[in-house]
Amino acid sequence: MAVMTQEQTPAVGSAAPDRGKGTVVLRGVTKRFEGTTAVDHVDLTVPGGSYVVLLGPSGCGKTTLLRMLGGHATIDEGEFLLDGVRTNDIPPARRDISTVFQHYGLFPHKSVRDNVEFGLKMRGLPRDARRRRADDALEFLDLTPMADRRPSQLSGGQQQRVALARALVTEPTVLLLDEPLGDLDRLLQLRMRVELRALQRRLRITFIHVTHNQEEALAIADQIVVMQDGRIQQVGRPRDVYRRPANLFTSGFMGDNNVVAGQVSAIDDGHVRVEGDGLTLLARHDATGVAVGQNLHASVRASCVSAEPAIGSGDTTSPERPNQVTATLIFLEYLGDIVKLHCRLPNGQAIVAKRAETDRTWDSLVEGEPVRLEWKTEDVQLLLA
Ligand SMILES: Nc1ncnc2c1ncn2[C@@H]1O[C@H](COP(=O)(O)OP(=O)(O)OP(=O)(O)O)[C@@H](O)[C@H]1O
Ligand SMILES: [Mg+2]
Repeated sequence: MAVMTQEQTPAVGSAAPDRGKGTVVLRGVTKRFEGTTAVDHVDLTVPGGSYVVLLGPSGCGKTTLLRMLGGHATIDEGEFLLDGVRTNDIPPARRDISTVFQHYGLFPHKSVRDNVEFGLKMRGLPRDARRRRADDALEFLDLTPMADRRPSQLSGGQQQRVALARALVTEPTVLLLDEPLGDLDRLLQLRMRVELRALQRRLRITFIHVTHNQEEALAIADQIVVMQDGRIQQVGRPRDVYRRPANLFTSGFMGDNNVVAGQVSAIDDGHVRVEGDGLTLLARHDATGVAVGQNLHASVRASCVSAEPAIGSGDTTSPERPNQVTATLIFLEYLGDIVKLHCRLPNGQAIVAKRAETDRTWDSLVEGEPVRLEWKTEDVQLLLA
């Protein structure tokens, strides 16, 4: 972004970039540290003006990837294009990219206003223009009454808004956010994730937001990028990543899935029959590359497993009745909106069922007693990778 003159200094958000600006393309982007490949040949396209969440467990390379985009770490291999321009070697202050760092990284001895002005100073803006732009940004994020305070005199939520103001004041086309909600209490997290999403819609710039929190990613993202060990495991809309995890890792990471290691015993009539872990599962045959005798995993989401009291305890699964099993209810976990039923098969295999609180069939279940579990064919997913 060209540095603006004093006459051309619109308030943050008043001059939203054209839709499509802020398009990020990564080709084979790699970062190695001694003994670790933190980011391993990442290929990714982030459409301009979209909200993308990088989701993965601790140590999977999220921060490292963000640091390379922001210019705070060098790219060892591969190419980073911003709106078609190779950006690998452009210094941070000359990229149209800003970062909200993990724990915000505010300067403790500077005032809120000086913190917000900092990025403009780095870009060589004259003092008056800096002040005006910083004040606009403070106004935009409801921080005007706090302009002269130090960060330590603010609440966590206010500090987060200062970090946002500091990042947005330079009018980036891409905003990088590293665990922006991680330091907030749960209620504030829930509120701020809605506000972040609304802010992104208002500014119409690209947000790339890093988190290890599945629910946060599902709630906020246009596209989720699931990462593990420096590699992308899956990219998709929240509902697609949630409903159809691409592999064993995503299935395990995205929530309460019952995953069974099994073998294909039959394929007939549009169905695949899988035996394993004391269960017989029937899945729709909509995946290519499945063969009889093949070892694979099958997954059933906990919320797709229904539960009712079993009549008689010796009635376990049989090949005649796939997708059903009698188990013992070990622990009924009451969570308000939902109830989680932790069950166990005679062979020790654990199965979790999740029911809506309002679905009162669970009300008559008793811990230690047999429970009949059942799920639908269309809810069984085969994981080939
Ligand atoms: N400066 C460094 N020197 C050596 N190794 C590093 C460095 N920075 C990161 N790593 C390693 O690279 C890997 C990825 O780290 P990174 O900080 O990107 O993970 P992360 O996904 O952000 O994790 P978290 O959720 O815990 O923040 C880790 O194995 C980490 O130990
Ligand atoms: Mg990190």
